[in-house]
Amino acid sequence: MAESPDPDSEYSRLQELRRLVNYHNYRYYVLDDPEIPDAEFDRLFEELEAIEARHPEWVTPDSPTQRVGAEPLDAFPEIRHEVPMLSLQNGFEESEAWDFDRRVRELLGTDEPVDYTVEPKLDGLAVTLIYEKGHFVRGGTRGDGTRGEDITSNLKTIRQIPMGLLGSGWPELLEVRGEVYMAKDRFRELNERRRAQGLTEFANPRNAAAGSLRQLDPRIPARRPLEIAVYGLGQVSEPVAERHSEVLAQLWQWGLPMLREIDRVRGMEECLEVYRRLLDSRHELRYEADGAVYKVDRYDLQRQLGHIARSPRWALAHKFPPLEEMTRIRWIEASVGRTGKITPVAHLDPVEIGGATVSRASLHNQDEVDRKDAREGDYVMVRRAGDVIPEVVRVIESQRPNGTEPYRLPDTCPACGAEVIRPEGEVDARCSGGLSCPAQRMGAILHFASRRALDIEGLGEKLAQQLVETGLVETPADLYRLSQEQLQALERMAEKSADNLVRALEASKYPPLDRFLYALGIDLVGEATAQLLARELGSLDRIMGASREELEALPDIGPEVAKAIRTFFNQDRNRQVLTELRELGVEPQEPEPAPAEGPDLSGLRLVLTGTLERWTREEATEALEARGARVSGSVSGRTDYVVAGSDPGSKADRARELDVPVLDEAGLERLLNRGTA
Ligand code: IVH
Repeated sequence: MAESPDPDSEYSRLQELRRLVNYHNYRYYVLDDPEIPDAEFDRLFEELEAIEARHPEWVTPDSPTQRVGAEPLDAFPEIRHEVPMLSLQNGFEESEAWDFDRRVRELLGTDEPVDYTVEPKLDGLAVTLIYEKGHFVRGGTRGDGTRGEDITSNLKTIRQIPMGLLGSGWPELLEVRGEVYMAKDRFRELNERRRAQGLTEFANPRNAAAGSLRQLDPRIPARRPLEIAVYGLGQVSEPVAERHSEVLAQLWQWGLPMLREIDRVRGMEECLEVYRRLLDSRHELRYEADGAVYKVDRYDLQRQLGHIARSPRWALAHKFPPLEEMTRIRWIEASVGRTGKITPVAHLDPVEIGGATVSRASLHNQDEVDRKDAREGDYVMVRRAGDVIPEVVRVIESQRPNGTEPYRLPDTCPACGAEVIRPEGEVDARCSGGLSCPAQRMGAILHFASRRALDIEGLGEKLAQQLVETGLVETPADLYRLSQEQLQALERMAEKSADNLVRALEASKYPPLDRFLYALGIDLVGEATAQLLARELGSLDRIMGASREELEALPDIGPEVAKAIRTFFNQDRNRQVLTELRELGVEPQEPEPAPAEGPDLSGLRLVLTGTLERWTREEATEALEARGARVSGSVSGRTDYVVAGSDPGSKADRARELDVPVLDEAGLERLLNRGTA
């Protein structure tokens, strides 16, 4: 389309492209089953963008190119719900489900089993999506049920939401209702990234989803892994079908995202079978569900049943047993971690939550203790979500016994007596004792020896404690001074184990630089950051000597992490330990310096995806790194190029979202040979 094309045919091409982009988007995001390679999708998308660039007058808000990029708002406009957004009556016991079923049949005057749909009850945020003539025009939150907030720009950033419905036959006005949520694994990744960037983590996927949608700047939700599942209708200009299950099937045909785990059953016993199955697989589900929703399937019967107050008589949320339980705080421990961070930990009357016995729960920090006013002796709600550490959610103040006192973390470290400090602007209290504090020492030794650090086999908790308590080991350097005799003299230490440990220590003396860095236990420096430092700076001396500015200039290193690294290396004690480690023969292995041939690509950041024809992934990485470029595993706003071979994965998509240029194999070769793509 280089020379000026005929506007009519160009306009029909534009429409065709929008249809195609929407369709392939749906294959990718809703069905999770792409039909064409990402590179092909990119071409369609780029062609669409090119036409729109030539004809800005043709750009409409529902074009697939317009998902991200809306201006931040000062406040959300109001959205009115013509059909109110109701809530559901809850039931907890099977007997309540039977009561519900009995009521339904009484009101309908039937003894026959009723047809129900059973759907997982997603724990997210209810939203409504409005389509006019098949185009997404507006969407909002539930608010008070009749008035919510218009969050259209934020919703558009959720790729699963079709901007245009697929197929045909949609009513002129179609309002669908659903739940925006965050899948458990995506939530965990998000929190991991936030931790690395020194940002506060979200308490649970629900808060993360709700918090993201409430942002006035749509660029924020655009970067959050939000998903949506629709579960029903709002206002429609004409009926869609006669049964709820048929409506869902029809919405699915029109490309609307939905959970897979939806069943249609006959009678309450079958509802309960599905419920039990869902409950059993609860922890394997990708998302957090807090129950099952039973809905009378036939709309005529739904209408006959009507609603009371704010919830329909035709539906019931049968909740799963809570992941929260009530118990009592016996006492609160100020627990000292390996970095000196002091965490208030509640020791509880043991309680069973979601199949596990919980006897300790985190109170996080003093601010959280104050906010919840948690005291020793208090009755509290404790929550266990998946595999995260249980936490105290809130205090039940009405049950507070007499004579309790507000809890304060001690002013001195319970392990070493050193002063506890809390730097201004920080939430965490810390023991100032450093490695003279036995709790920190033991934590530091255990971390140093752990599998992902120096992997010193045989150095577990018991032994670390003995070594620290007997004064044999104060710092990681002392480990390398241990003799066979000293070890054997320890209680319960057999000759063989002593021998093995000495060998294991010997074998740990040449760790890769990144593992060594990680082993040092620098605050906020996890494995990924350690790898990055090793790769970017290449040697321990350079890392030790890097200024905060130099560190911050590295990709993915924020001011908090840079500060933590500097603080660590500025301490004489830490420098001393490093000197001793070297004297004792510990030599971190630097990553191979690359022979510099061809153009200098230093400073460039690339991501490889898909299969290349003439290169293996390793070869391409090596060639790029040899020229100073950095190859990383995930696409971010700082990525300069994504190289996509055949069958590229989601990374090419991510690149498109972030406007990162995508190179094919020829582009990669040009870059390697000439220095420009
Ligand atoms: S139907 C009139 N179906 O639960 C019925 N709701 O307390 C309206 N929810 O606000 C809701 N999964 O946010 C329905 N499969 C599902 C649901 C579901 C989650 C949420 C929704 C609603 C709340 C009701």
